[in-house]
Amino acid sequence: MLGLWKTWKALEAKGIMGINRRNADYVLKYNKRHLYPIVDDKIITKQRAIEAGIHVPEMYGVISTEKEIDNLDKIIGERSDFVVKPAQGAGGDGILVIADRFEDRFKTVSGKIVSHSEIEQQISSILSGLYSLGGHRDRALIEYRVTPDSIFKSISYEGVPDIRIIVLMGYPVMAMLRLPTRQSGGKANLHQGAIGVGVDLATGVTLRGTWLNNKISKHPDTTNAVDGVQLPNWDGFMKLAAGCYELCGLGYIGVDMVLDQDKGPLILELNARPGLNIQIANDCGLTHRAHAVEARLEELAAKGIQENAEERTRFSQELFGHIPAVEI
Ligand SMILES: Nc1ncnc2c1ncn2[C@@H]1O[C@H](COP(=O)(O)OP(=O)(O)O)[C@@H](O)[C@H]1O
Ligand SMILES: [Mg+2]
Repeated sequence: MLGLWKTWKALEAKGIMGINRRNADYVLKYNKRHLYPIVDDKIITKQRAIEAGIHVPEMYGVISTEKEIDNLDKIIGERSDFVVKPAQGAGGDGILVIADRFEDRFKTVSGKIVSHSEIEQQISSILSGLYSLGGHRDRALIEYRVTPDSIFKSISYEGVPDIRIIVLMGYPVMAMLRLPTRQSGGKANLHQGAIGVGVDLATGVTLRGTWLNNKISKHPDTTNAVDGVQLPNWDGFMKLAAGCYELCGLGYIGVDMVLDQDKGPLILELNARPGLNIQIANDCGLTHRAHAVEARLEELAAKGIQENAEERTRFSQELFGHIPAVEI
C-alpha cells in the first residue's frame, strides 16, 4: 500500500487526476445520464457500433430468460470456441472465454475444463444479475472469441490483450495496452491481475508498465520486455477511438479495443467511468492533457469550428505524443 501511495504522491506533481475530480469534472460534466445505457449494456454498444460501420466481435446470440438457456446449443452450433459474458458486466467478472471443446466438455482459455451444465449455470447467474452494475437482472451474450494478433505472443500470456484509450470530447488523451497474466485468467482487466503498459500516443510504441500497483518493465510470466514494442495499426486504433465519441455521444470515455489476427482492430466495449491506473502505466497525469483539450475546444468554439476524428487524432498526437523514455 505504501508503495502505491508513494507512486501516487510522485504523480501528483505530474497532474494526476483523482477519483473525485474525475467524477465531478469529467464523468458528470461530459457524460449525459440518458446516454449511459449505450455503454453500460454491451449488446446496445454492439448494435450502435454496427450501425456506425465500426467492427466488433460478431454476436452469436443473446439469452434473456431462463427458458432461453435451452437455446444455448443452437447458438453455439458446431463452434468450438466462443465467449459468454454479462451484457452489463464490468471488470472482467462473469466472462467465460471458451477456447476448445470435446464432446460435452469445454476448455476455457486458461485450461479449465467446464461442463455443459456449468456453462448453463453461469448463464443463469448472469441473468440473475450477479455480475451486473447495481445487481439488476441482466442478459447473457454469446460472441466470437478474439484470437490476438501474433505480435502479442512474445509479450502476453494466454488470453487477449486489449488497448484502452481515454477519449475526451473525441480527443484521445492517454493510451494503455493491457496484457493478461497467468493470474488474470486470460482477461485484460487490471484488477484481475493483468498488466497495464503505457503507450506513446504519437507512435504506438509501448512504455513501461504497472502490475498490481508496482512499476515493471518485464512481463512476470514470460519475462519478455513489455516496453519499446511497436503496436501495429496505431493510427487506425487512434482514429477508431476518437470516432467512438460520435458513436455514443458521451464526452469522457475509455474505449477498449483488440487486434484480432483475422478481423483486425475491433471495439470490445466502451466505459463511462474509465479507471485511473492508466496514469501509473504512463507515469503521467491526465489533468494537464484534459485541460489542453478543454482549451482547444474553447478556442475552436470561439471560431465556430468542430474537428473531425482525424483532425482530433492529429491534435492529440502532436501535443501528447513522443514521450521520452523515463527512468523509473
Ligand atoms: N470476445 C472475446 N474474445 C476473447 N477474449 C475476450 C472477449 N471479450 C472479452 N474478452 C477478455 O475479457 C476481458 C474483459 O472483457 P470486456 O468485454 O472488456 O468486459 P468488462 O466490461 O468486464 O471489462 C477483455 O479485456 C478480454 O481480455
Ligand atoms: Mg473491459
